[in-house]
Amino acid sequence: MTQTRRRFLQTTSLTAASVALSCKRLLGQAAGGVSTLADARIDILPSEPIGVIAPEIYSHFIEHLGGVIYDGVWVGERSKIPNRNGIRTAFIEAMRAVQAPVLRWPGGCFAESYDWRDGVGPAAKRPQRSAFWDQEDTNRYGTHEFMETCRAIGCQPYLAGDLRSLPASDFYQWIEYCNAPAGPNALATERAANGDKDPFDVQYWGVGNESWGCGGNLTPEEYGAKYRDFTTWYPRYGGEAPAGAEPSRRRDLKLIACGPNGDDIAWTRGVLRSLTAAHLPYGLSVHYYTSGDAKRFAHGDALQFDDAQYYDLLTRGSYMENVISNHWGALAEVDTNHRVKLIVDEWGAWYGKSTELAGVASGPQYNLSQQSTMRDALLTGITLDIFQRHADKVAMANVAQSINCIHSLMLAREDKFTVTPTFHVFQMYLPHRNAQSLRVEFSAPSIANTLAAVSPVGGNSTTGSTAPAIRLAGLSGSASLSSANGGKTLTLTVVNPHINQPLTTEIALHGMAIASVKGTVLASASVHDHNDFDHPNAVRPTTATTGTASGRRLMHTFPAASVTMLQFAVS
Ligand code: AHR
Repeated sequence: MTQTRRRFLQTTSLTAASVALSCKRLLGQAAGGVSTLADARIDILPSEPIGVIAPEIYSHFIEHLGGVIYDGVWVGERSKIPNRNGIRTAFIEAMRAVQAPVLRWPGGCFAESYDWRDGVGPAAKRPQRSAFWDQEDTNRYGTHEFMETCRAIGCQPYLAGDLRSLPASDFYQWIEYCNAPAGPNALATERAANGDKDPFDVQYWGVGNESWGCGGNLTPEEYGAKYRDFTTWYPRYGGEAPAGAEPSRRRDLKLIACGPNGDDIAWTRGVLRSLTAAHLPYGLSVHYYTSGDAKRFAHGDALQFDDAQYYDLLTRGSYMENVISNHWGALAEVDTNHRVKLIVDEWGAWYGKSTELAGVASGPQYNLSQQSTMRDALLTGITLDIFQRHADKVAMANVAQSINCIHSLMLAREDKFTVTPTFHVFQMYLPHRNAQSLRVEFSAPSIANTLAAVSPVGGNSTTGSTAPAIRLAGLSGSASLSSANGGKTLTLTVVNPHINQPLTTEIALHGMAIASVKGTVLASASVHDHNDFDHPNAVRPTTATTGTASGRRLMHTFPAASVTMLQFAVS
């Protein structure tokens, strides 16, 4: 059966327009024995577990950039905008609604010009600085405000250390300031005087950001040397070494080394070879953005696009799968036991400036803010499904960025606020957390990307091969199994990218019987549909109309251009 399906996929070369009829005929042959004709087929294989899906793959990122912090997150205690200790209430509530596990701050590139000492102490005495992204930063929002944000959300903090413009002592003293137990330690005393007696207990520490670019334009070997320099000693408080652990694992902090720009395997190889076993990090960060323009990075229009551009973006976004697999393979060349995990701490679709929020006179400017449509919701689903399918490799991922930026879940301008379609996908995918990822086979004709000939697929870089961007999977997704609440629940998330083609799909659960099924779907009349301040509910999920299950099978129709979450009670 598997070989038949594979042959079907390999030999099918159809344009999107001709998918429906040909597909029904071919699947009728491929699925032999299935009485109802289907456009596609999904086989879920519970006997092939992949790994537990880390909740951290649904994590977040905020940077001192445009209107992300000032106005997006921080409105100030005296603002008329509802806030909790200066933090926008709507931001807190939306982050709680998606159960944000980890929040990364203060950058991004900003982190590489940031002195944490500027952001602590009496607010009136904090210096205003010229900072990365050509913005003036008042430092009103600093370490304590960030920790208060994390407490309000109920998430873990992830601090990105400055490797470019500060020495190693500032890195370890920031750790000391955050984590030293209350007591005679000078930095713990300073922290207490600034309002927080108890340590923040920050576990995730980034050692530099994009050191191949804004973080210093280093070679992998130069970065490796700096990483060793910064991490040879740093304070560890309270962490118990696992019995018999080798020295490199005796750390309570989760250090994250600067990883590659998209598909740059040479960087990963070079960095890993520059680190000895004693210096292996907890994770290697990966940044992979998908440009809205097939030829130029960070171009294209978030709202105005044609069908070819729609398919092109989703196809190049799907290249995340290769990015993960390729870097995982490169890690294995040095780290044979795979102790180092991948941390995709920046990802998303990045467009040009045409939909940027209008700046406020003498107030916030919204550099790099952009609108988000159903197209971005589908990219979100495709990306989260990839992370879930690679649950054994990806320990954390942070969407860039949570509010008023590139691939945001929220947009805010003064007292106006809306969630985007991407927010809804994050919420729909919640049931996958901590569940066992299962192998799934999707059989549907792929879609030609007519712009592939000019598509760079290397993340920020434009030097990647075009080969993987030639076809888009006609249906993709992931499945997971959890045993919570006394029964077994199988969650299946699916993206149907066809703009005009619903896909009637036979879903087969191998070795499990379906007791009941329910679901949620995000679809809209047009892939250009989006929410804005005047229409915050233009795009929102609805209850899915599911087919009737019979034994181990369900026939279900995935609407055109949709993201669907199905939950099966199984035995
Ligand atoms: O998220 C915006 C920027 O993209 C970050 O500051 C940087 O790390 C990346 O290039």
